[in-house]
Amino acid sequence: MSKKIRLGILGGGADSLIGVLHRVASQINDNYQIVGAVFNPDYEENLAFAKEIDIPTDRIYKDFDTLVAEEMKLPKEDRIQVCSILTPNFLHFPMAKKLLDNGFHVICEKPMTTTHDEAKILLEAQKKTGAVFAVTHTYTGYPMVRQMREMIKAGELGKIHKVDARYYQGWINPIIHNKEKRSSVWRLDPKKAGISSCMGDIGVHAFNLVEYTTGLKIRSLLCDFNYLYSDNQMDVDGTVLIRMGEHSKGVIRGSQVATGEENGLAIAIYGEKASLRWEQERPNYLYKMSDTEPTQIYKPGHAYNSKLSLDGTKLPPGHPEGIFDSMANIYLGVARAIRGQKYNDGEFPTIVDGVRGLNFIESTVESHKKGNVWVELVD
Ligand SMILES: NC(=O)c1ccc[n+]([C@@H]2O[C@H](COP(=O)([O-])OP(=O)(O)OC[C@H]3O[C@@H](n4cnc5c(N)ncnc54)[C@H](O)[C@@H]3O)[C@@H](O)[C@H]2O)c1
Repeated sequence: MSKKIRLGILGGGADSLIGVLHRVASQINDNYQIVGAVFNPDYEENLAFAKEIDIPTDRIYKDFDTLVAEEMKLPKEDRIQVCSILTPNFLHFPMAKKLLDNGFHVICEKPMTTTHDEAKILLEAQKKTGAVFAVTHTYTGYPMVRQMREMIKAGELGKIHKVDARYYQGWINPIIHNKEKRSSVWRLDPKKAGISSCMGDIGVHAFNLVEYTTGLKIRSLLCDFNYLYSDNQMDVDGTVLIRMGEHSKGVIRGSQVATGEENGLAIAIYGEKASLRWEQERPNYLYKMSDTEPTQIYKPGHAYNSKLSLDGTKLPPGHPEGIFDSMANIYLGVARAIRGQKYNDGEFPTIVDGVRGLNFIESTVESHKKGNVWVELVD
């Protein structure tokens, strides 16, 4: 029998954006075999896609409930062990809850749910079974992001004064400026995406990156959104002031209407001794700055990097690895956790990070709607 972990996929069909990233990432370190799926709500398209990518169709199900019911009839040693949830946001909660209740491990796209309450319910369900639950904040898998986390943990920056994280995209411009289009995409429909577009979709990645790299918790925030049109119910741009402590503050800036921007996620962390700066579009360069020394550039794969960072690099320095490898590193950590092997808690974001993410999203909306007031993030 194959030693690979039996993976199920929900969503991520031929018509999707993120499906290919998960499928490729799950194969990169040779740990998973896709054995079952509901790629698409249309059964014919679902089957056609499975055939196209050469996955046996006997466990391609007509819908999610059938997948769970049929898999539960199989002996445990044949059954799907972990499911990746790659559907639009509103399906994450019901799918993840049922998977947990039936003893499956879960890899869930962000935002983990559409409300903070749902996220907390999932956490309780996960605690009951002890299942492995990863939330795919993809960018935490980059070697240089892991390196930031380890350098900060080792005290190389000293006390952190200021954090500036921004995630700028421009892709929603052609949609938002067209009245018909802006009422038809799921990302601008609160029933399908949740209460926020910009902060729910990308601001939450920046939020996660701040907490992942600094190890600090954002305690309170004040947010100002831009909706651009009065008939649009979802933020497409926002600026969030954040406080991690009395003397440790910062800003998260998000936009889906930053014209010309592609996937402009960037973070700068300023400490009393030094600072770090990293950009997603140039992921293999980490800048360390100080007031007294010339700026240093850290790159992946060199022995001077931390163990956690080096674990995320497969080839010698100078062979660029990117977003597929970053997601693959998350899948690698999850594989270790499922197998009961030792792993570093920086290898993948968990359900706890998912709950924090929903707390952030809801707090930004609350802050804006109450007239741009400070809101505490109480877990
Ligand atoms: N980690 C990241 O950086 C990142 C990037 C993009 C998207 N995402 C997240 O991934 C998720 C999917 O985003 P996307 O851009 O791929 O969306 P998408 O609309 O491109 O694709 C959604 C897929 O889900 C399928 N689907 C819809 N309803 C289904 C159902 N009932 N059962 C099975 N499949 C169903 C659709 O057919 C489609 O294949 C979202 O939650 C999004 O926030 C994460």
